Amino acid sequence: MGEVPKISVEVVPEPPASGDLVEFVPEGKRVSSDIPEEEFRGKKLSTLLLREGGRRRLYVGLGPQESIGPAILRKASGAAVRSLVKIGAEQISILAQEWEDHLDAIVEGALLGAYRFERYKPETLRSRTGLRQLWLCIAPRLRREAKEKAKLGQLVAEATNLVRDLGNEPGNVIFPEALAERAHQLAKEYGLSCRVFEPRELEEKGFGGLLAVGSGSVHGPRLILLEYSGKDPGRPPIALVGKAITFDSGGISLKPGERMDEMKFDKMGGCAVLGILCAASRLQLPTRVVGVLAAAENLPGPSAYRPGDIIRTYDGNTIEVLNTDAEGRIVLADAIAYVKKEFRPSLIIDLATLTGACIVALGKEKAGLFTPDRELREAFWSLGEEVNNPVWPLPLGEEFDEQIKSDIALVKNVGGKEGGACTAAAFLQKWVGDTRWVHLDIAGPAWITKEVAYLEKGPTGFGVSLITRFLLGQANQAQRTKPSQKGSGRKR
Ligand code: BES
Ligand code: ZN
Ligand code: ZN
Repeated sequence: MGEVPKISVEVVPEPPASGDLVEFVPEGKRVSSDIPEEEFRGKKLSTLLLREGGRRRLYVGLGPQESIGPAILRKASGAAVRSLVKIGAEQISILAQEWEDHLDAIVEGALLGAYRFERYKPETLRSRTGLRQLWLCIAPRLRREAKEKAKLGQLVAEATNLVRDLGNEPGNVIFPEALAERAHQLAKEYGLSCRVFEPRELEEKGFGGLLAVGSGSVHGPRLILLEYSGKDPGRPPIALVGKAITFDSGGISLKPGERMDEMKFDKMGGCAVLGILCAASRLQLPTRVVGVLAAAENLPGPSAYRPGDIIRTYDGNTIEVLNTDAEGRIVLADAIAYVKKEFRPSLIIDLATLTGACIVALGKEKAGLFTPDRELREAFWSLGEEVNNPVWPLPLGEEFDEQIKSDIALVKNVGGKEGGACTAAAFLQKWVGDTRWVHLDIAGPAWITKEVAYLEKGPTGFGVSLITRFLLGQANQAQRTKPSQKGSGRKR
């Protein structure tokens, strides 16, 4: 998949003779009578490495039996693979027999754990080895189902790693035009259609928000459209909208210098949208999916937009700019207006590294989840836990609408100190209107600044697993509610 080195994944009945072994251990289970309990008792994500002849065996703890599920298996598998890869493993067998129900999570974790970004390291500092082969040991009678699950896990992980690769690229490599170019290439590779609006076209069509935010940079903004047509191209699609600020300096309302480099990750919402479309196509989902990336670079400069400016978005609505650093909502407003008018989607899901306030509210691990729809709220909430893309509901409501009222435009782009993630969401809702909608503020989990057991530091690809699986779930649900062909055709 793109630049991500392909790792071969195979389901086998027994571990082959070469390579290292990974074995999962629920808390309290003794791995052998030779190993004292003090040394290893299966505590969550603890590990024990043994040497057996020419190979290594890594035990990894799953924690208490009652909480073992896909979330912990994904992490444990990732942590195990990551630590083996660090010590030179190239071939790994995972003993997965008891856990075949969650083989997708196991494979996904393993491939996320094996990921490294070393493109810009000098040859001498690059790892000399990397994972090439993953074997999943499963009883032969379960082979068929296991292969399908493994395939799903592999596909989701590859899409996630592709998004991490894009995210790791710096602002001088990935600027809006370059992102559009990558989107084009990927669309070709995955059989998606792709259309890009350049600044001239954005002007003709009235994308005042995207143009304003991008006006300070010599790298003009782009609206990138991707479409996976699904099995029924005539149906209203699900629309995915992503914030793709390739670098956010804050603009005239300049950010402080410390950690400003991290703002190359302000494109992660858009990158995730790209990855999800690739995954949807590989999965051959029946659902039609449209992706929109609002790409711009937010810089100060002689032609930059400024506090006080009034902007008109694609649908004619107006924004009073009070802070040029609250740019995400402005580009999203244009993208949402466009997708609503041109595609009449049955559902809009947007992903955006939108507010620092969301990190203050929820910390770094969970994304803010905003939706007026209770069913969607519950679906995302529980699915998020299951796939290690946790989300937590935050409110929309009149009190936030009140905070963003402007004296001279429809809204102003900041709503004061209180509830910053909520006022940003309330802002987006003005453009969404009555369309079914989920907004994910991924400012916290889009990247990590310290490595964890199963992920290296940098972009996480947050949202790819969650939304790909959400789309898959929608498709399966539609399948189940369809009257069965056999039954309806039979004469009584
Ligand atoms: N991209 C930032 C939000 C952000 C900050 C994400 C830190 C992840 C980590 C966004 O464009 C922004 O700057 N938002 C401002 C809004 C404020 C000016 C109302 C913020 O959160 O400070
Ligand atoms: Zn900003
Ligand atoms: Zn931003």
